[in-house]
Amino acid sequence: AAPLKVGIAGLGTVGGGVLRLLETQAELLEARCGRRIIVTAVSARDRTKDRGTDLSAVRWYDDASVMATDPDLDVVVELVGGSDGIAKRTVEAAFAHGRHVVTANKALLAHHGAALALAAEEKGLTLAYEAAVAGGIPAIKGLREGLAGNNIREVHGILNGTCNYILTEMRTTGREFAEVLADAQKLGYAEADPSFDIDGIDAAHKLAVLTGVAFGVTVDFAAVHVEGIRHISSLDIEYAQELGYRIRLLGIARRTDQGIEQRVHPCMVPIGSPIGATDGVFNAVVADGDFVDKVVLVGRGAGAGPTASAVVADLLDIARGRSTPTFGVPAGRLASLVASPIDRR
Ligand code: NDP
Ligand code: HSE
Repeated sequence: AAPLKVGIAGLGTVGGGVLRLLETQAELLEARCGRRIIVTAVSARDRTKDRGTDLSAVRWYDDASVMATDPDLDVVVELVGGSDGIAKRTVEAAFAHGRHVVTANKALLAHHGAALALAAEEKGLTLAYEAAVAGGIPAIKGLREGLAGNNIREVHGILNGTCNYILTEMRTTGREFAEVLADAQKLGYAEADPSFDIDGIDAAHKLAVLTGVAFGVTVDFAAVHVEGIRHISSLDIEYAQELGYRIRLLGIARRTDQGIEQRVHPCMVPIGSPIGATDGVFNAVVADGDFVDKVVLVGRGAGAGPTASAVVADLLDIARGRSTPTFGVPAGRLASLVASPIDRR
């Protein structure tokens, strides 16, 4: 079969991880989908940076949105980031030119998910984003496909690896907030602007996307109540422990009589619970379905390897010709299914 030709925009933590995975696992991936997956084009800011792999035979674009118009591509992988600007232009150009899109960009999806899903649907293309929520955990496929036969009553969990890493390190090493945050940045966990992590915005982006998938509603970021972890002190963490609790930044979406409630804020959870036991950069997603009951997924929520694993899973789906509606129901139906939020402040 013809190879799947991929263009990657963004060669940082995640893009670098994807290049490495595609190279290291090339044979395994070909065996799994019956085609080679080859990178034929890339885009990043700095051509001189070592990307850990030989890119001399790959077409280089300074402008990712121009890369997306390259006629010799099947898929554009957007790993630049940001809810607007180049990321959005690149994804829109990809759809306009008939390319599938894989992205890890939850900010983009939280703000423009519904419109982009519609653009993909109108062209019969795929918008895949497993890596955008909970890093290496197959949370999107798990909810959208594995639990598709259920009415989801609630979905909640730890959706930001940086915050969970900070809260865990403060407790286990006694180090200060700022020092641990700097570590998370060095490890490639944090967003380009880390206030998105610690102020709960990144978790809220992910929750809005997860809510769309779990409840079959349009992504409505403005409806999420958001509070971060800036004000949590070592003393708070210590007191919680004395009482048998851990402090976690949780994202919670639940069906209520008034509509879907979505909120992100720090919570006290029992130490022995699945969420209480999830330390470090790990995320946890708990879904409660009417037939399946509770399902818990735990894994690394950030970092090059886990995120690349999720991006490549989406590429394999596309290589196999497998397509699922972006949010589990036809995008054309979503407009009439706006979540009716309890909170709009
Ligand atoms: P990085 O900052 O590490 O990488 C960003 C990349 O984008 C760099 O290669 C940079 O180029 C490139 N870039 C920036 N601006 C442009 C531009 N105008 N045109 C072309 N390329 C550009 O980010 P991450 O890899 O950490 O994150 C990428 C995306 O993945 C974001 O949406 C993030 O939210 C998401 N994500 C990140 C995870 C993580 O653990 N880090 C996990 C899950 C999702 P250059 O290298 O030349 O500077
Ligand atoms: N900054 C994000 C986090 C990356 O720490 O969870 C993964 O989406």
